[in-house]
Amino acid sequence: MAHRGASAYAPENTLPALRLARIHHADMAEIDVRRTADGHFVVIHDLDLRRTTDVAELFPERRSWRVSDFTLAEIRRLDAGSWFGERFAGERVPTLAEALDLLRADGLGALVELKVHRRDSEMCRDLADFLRAERYWRAAGSEGRLILQSFDRVTLRRVAEAVPGLHAAVLGKTYGRFGLRRIARYARQVNPHHLRVTAPYVRRAHAQGLTLFGWTVNNDHEIRRMIRDGVDGIITDYPDRVAGYRTLAA
Ligand code: G3P
Ligand code: CA
Repeated sequence: MAHRGASAYAPENTLPALRLARIHHADMAEIDVRRTADGHFVVIHDLDLRRTTDVAELFPERRSWRVSDFTLAEIRRLDAGSWFGERFAGERVPTLAEALDLLRADGLGALVELKVHRRDSEMCRDLADFLRAERYWRAAGSEGRLILQSFDRVTLRRVAEAVPGLHAAVLGKTYGRFGLRRIARYARQVNPHHLRVTAPYVRRAHAQGLTLFGWTVNNDHEIRRMIRDGVDGIITDYPDRVAGYRTLAA
């Protein structure tokens, strides 16, 4: 899984990073999703726009640079590429629809991480409607080619229950047998930080019918270790490095 796209090679969560995911042999691209002030879903990791855009130059007078305080039209004016390298100057923050269109055209799956700053039932409803709207992604959602993941289990559960068959994945800590069993009522997957992944934990998750992806793994030693531990997928900034170990995983 190409983390924020192939984010070692292009600015994270931009269309070039998603294009490079396929070129670097990923099966899916992981993207982070947030909501704008006027209710659109955009692909960006941070709550605050400053790290990955030129928002502070374009809107110096604003008191907050949070995604949720900007409209889509305002966010579309931002340069989300220059911070990474001059050749990406002018890249825009994609909408969720644009990112999914590109992944669909490239035949890649989508691992969509919903970032939740404040729980919001309207946002859950809108995302569920969005994921149900297109036949292609509805089918992908029940086949595991689209997975919705979040650190916020309450929100994840709400959306998952509103989209029949949707594969959902719980991010974050590790759980005991009973915790995993509870998660298995609404999710198909648990995705812990790679330092929390052990072979017995992978077995425990599998015993509850859950698959497991570890994140974010960039060095060869850790990639090999996670494969030996039996994970079902690896989330990485360098999908080409993981692709080199496919035969080891088979
Ligand atoms: O895919 C899991 C991973 O992306 C979670 O951490 O901070 O990179 O969104 P973060
Ligand atoms: Ca993420």
